[in-house]
Amino acid sequence: MNKFITFEGVEGSGKSTQLKRLGEYLIGKNIPLILTQEPSGTPIGRKIGDILFDRSHQTMCPETELLLFFAARAQHVREVILPALNEGKYVLCDRFSDATFAYQAAGRGLDFDFIKTVNDYCAKQVKPDLTLLFDLPVETGLQRAGRRDAQLKDPSAADRFEKEKIDFHNRVRQGYLKICSSDPGRFQVIDAARSVDEIAVDVGRRVMAFINQQA
Ligand SMILES: Nc1ncnc2c1ncn2[C@@H]1O[C@H](COP(=O)(O)OP(=O)(O)OP(=O)(O)O)[C@@H](O)[C@H]1O
Ligand SMILES: [Mg+2]
Repeated sequence: MNKFITFEGVEGSGKSTQLKRLGEYLIGKNIPLILTQEPSGTPIGRKIGDILFDRSHQTMCPETELLLFFAARAQHVREVILPALNEGKYVLCDRFSDATFAYQAAGRGLDFDFIKTVNDYCAKQVKPDLTLLFDLPVETGLQRAGRRDAQLKDPSAADRFEKEKIDFHNRVRQGYLKICSSDPGRFQVIDAARSVDEIAVDVGRRVMAFINQQA
């Protein structure tokens, strides 16, 4: 199958921007695909996301956070990802299992092996075939996310994760890089500090090379 492509990286690294650009590019090439995201890739996941990202939920403990993300993933895999893969479509997914290891294991300090066990249960062993890791200094990503929030909603609209301290975001970034070095065949690290257009060209080229390899 080899058609499951995930987008990972810290806040504001450009995942959603590049997912949309890549989707448009591949649709232009008549490649059947869906675009989706975690945790809000299903109606149930959107409601779970509202709980997770609500910045008034400052007392949410890491265990609750972890299990909410897992609940959203279990639903997403069964309702959206597996059906699309079974229809032979490419699935471009904004964040997936690696985000749980980066945020809840490396960032929050929860147990890696426990996360692996429950993730296998929720993700039904579905594993990305290609993961694009958008890497950049966390300060740059947070500045971008801050400007986006100011344009979209109100200047103080940062969600619960964006409001975390720099140290947390740096642990997440290092967590991603560590996962990547343990599974280098699956990852492509993208220098996300460049312009949107430069990155889009790079991503398009790499993903087309991956798709052509499968053919
Ligand atoms: N390469 C870039 N250079 C400058 N600005 C960018 C770049 N890519 C995206 N942006 C802008 O930065 C903001 C964050 O981008 P985007 O929402 O795509 O990031 P994200 O990784 O999806 O963030 P999040 O983790 O919060 O979902 C947006 O306003 C977007 O327009
Ligand atoms: Mg995004």
